Amino acid sequence: MRIVAGSASKHVARSVAGALGARLVEVQVSRFPDDECYVRVMEDLDGEDVALIQTTYPDRNLVEALLLQDAIREFNVRRLITVVPYMAYARQDKKFNPGEAVSARAMARAISLHSDGLVLVDIHDEKTTEHFTVPALNVSAMPQIGQYLAKSARVDLVVSPDDGAMGKARSVAEVLGCRWSWLEKKRIDGSTVEIAPKDVDARGRTIAIVDDIIATGGTILTATRQLRLQGARGVIAACTHGLFTAGALPKLREACDYVLSSDTIENETSIVSAGPEVARGIRELLSR
Ligand code: R5P
Repeated sequence: MRIVAGSASKHVARSVAGALGARLVEVQVSRFPDDECYVRVMEDLDGEDVALIQTTYPDRNLVEALLLQDAIREFNVRRLITVVPYMAYARQDKKFNPGEAVSARAMARAISLHSDGLVLVDIHDEKTTEHFTVPALNVSAMPQIGQYLAKSARVDLVVSPDDGAMGKARSVAEVLGCRWSWLEKKRIDGSTVEIAPKDVDARGRTIAIVDDIIATGGTILTATRQLRLQGARGVIAACTHGLFTAGALPKLREACDYVLSSDTIENETSIVSAGPEVARGIRELLSR
């Protein structure tokens, strides 16, 4: 097994290579003067199972992934598994208005083209896996987030910002051995809405809010303010994909006690690696 690391996913690729006892392939990635991407695989991959690992955000990393797939297919590889730690465009997973692209489907089809299988991490909606034209497996960084929190904090309660993500809160809480819930909007009167954990009191508790993506940070900031108003002692924000657009991170760091993400998008909060779960996904696909 050989691992090809795209330039957006070097950390997670090293972690996967370590977990699988596989070797990282030497690749050259550079830019032409007009900013177009150039890739070259520097080793012979004939007869090998290969995993290409590359987050497809922003767009330039998608292009790099497609070029690397093409370069890998120049060799007579056994199977090419494409790992997309963070798949961009996954949130537009249906047509909300007539005439719109189903962006997640368009991306899934393009990435499938040269792959024998796909591994994704905490894809926004599990149903997106159905758009791939080859077997696609979704793994989760939540168990690794749970293990990190177990070593570094005393968490009393894990919540998701909505009921759609409650499975993520449950998964982290199972590792921690604590309670979990999700945040629900409660109308207090005509002009007041409170966001509170369903059936659990926030008072005096250290609460971890977990989500798949933090983008503008709006969801977590609102939840954090509300939990503090209800007497939470501490708030930790954790996500798989730390996009942190438009100055989100300083605001989150001011509001929360701690902010962490996985390495599906590499940034200064990427404390947890999705690598072990990705390695498990690759092993499972190859054993089918
Ligand atoms: C939405 O369904 C996602 O799970 C996240 O809650 C959302 O993308 C977070 O976005 P933001 O950080 O901009 O509030």
